Amino acid sequence: MSKQSYRIVALPGDGIGPEVLGCALRVLQSVGELFAVGLEIEEIPCGGHYYAEHEMEWPEGSFEKCQAADAILLGAVGHEVAGKTVFTKPGKPYPEPQLAGFAQVIGNRKKLDLYANVRPVKLYPGVKHKIHGELVQVWHPENVDYVVIRENTEDAYTGETKAIEDGRMTPIRITRRATERVVRYAFNLARRRNKLKKVTCVDKSNIIGAHRFFRDIFRQVGESEFPDLALDYAYVDAFCQWQIRSPEWFDVVVAPNLVGDIVSDNGATTAGGLGLAVGGNIGDEHGMFEPIHGSAPKHAGKDKANPMAAILAMQMMLEWLATRHGDDRLARGAASVEAAVAAVLLEGKTLTYDLIGEGKAAKCSEVGTAVIEKLRITV
Ligand code: IPM
Ligand code: MN
Repeated sequence: MSKQSYRIVALPGDGIGPEVLGCALRVLQSVGELFAVGLEIEEIPCGGHYYAEHEMEWPEGSFEKCQAADAILLGAVGHEVAGKTVFTKPGKPYPEPQLAGFAQVIGNRKKLDLYANVRPVKLYPGVKHKIHGELVQVWHPENVDYVVIRENTEDAYTGETKAIEDGRMTPIRITRRATERVVRYAFNLARRRNKLKKVTCVDKSNIIGAHRFFRDIFRQVGESEFPDLALDYAYVDAFCQWQIRSPEWFDVVVAPNLVGDIVSDNGATTAGGLGLAVGGNIGDEHGMFEPIHGSAPKHAGKDKANPMAAILAMQMMLEWLATRHGDDRLARGAASVEAAVAAVLLEGKTLTYDLIGEGKAAKCSEVGTAVIEKLRITV
């Protein structure tokens, strides 16, 4: 059912997080106005800087607010104090209890049961990437368009680690329940996309027994419930080169947590880099959306970081809310934001340094404004 108003929790976090999320929230406000959708946005301070000051991850009651929200938007977490990383993303070895940031990222993923991490690898027309320092477009947009579905609650992310005689041991846990639901998510997505009608299972099952189990479940669910789809298999090491060399082979990719973490960053290389890469953490009851880049402390406060990933994360949130609540206004809003982003990218004028080089670079806030202008024209 469409709602009068949607409650959004925004977690700006550290470093460039507040800047890029700020742009995404401005675009969101415009969507609210243009499509007459009520939005109650609550920003909650969190991340490494908050931890450094308060010795807690975020204010009391924040998790409950995330739980009660219709959707969560995350910026980035990771902060340094006197050369010591309080938390950075990618972070220090997990888990170290004194590190902050896991409440927002790992904590929310697990506690809200956000079992599928949906990471599109999609190249927009006009977008260039850095190859040995040069900005070039070597891939054709129509050839780079697949989605990585990363299992988001287990594998090497259990948080368990124990001392052994000459080191430490960290388990890899794969369960039937978590695997069945994430592979079903991937198969259903391949049906909806109706593109190659193929799902590729990427793992290291030639070596890791638990990954063999993941692959077996993938096969069982695929063969019994999705006979209309082709099942495809790849070991992660080989996949890493295929996804760069022949991205057109892929449509939907499903992987255990750590494998999905790595191949989604790797895939971002072929789609304009991390400045454009987005992740939706999705469960049956909750959703949290984030740019997959980190807090980039060295760029913080300079108004120079690329806000497109945060804007596209917000766009994915709108799409998810639209489907979940059958809200056509949000569906049109999501489509318009994507069109506005694509238009700014294609025009190639108001872009940050990572996409057009330092000399011609626009500011983070200017890119946000350019997207809003396109949005107002296209609606
Ligand atoms: C990501 C990040 C996180 C992860 C870190 C910050 C714990 O790399 O969202 O991809 O490993 O999942
Ligand atoms: Mn990652």
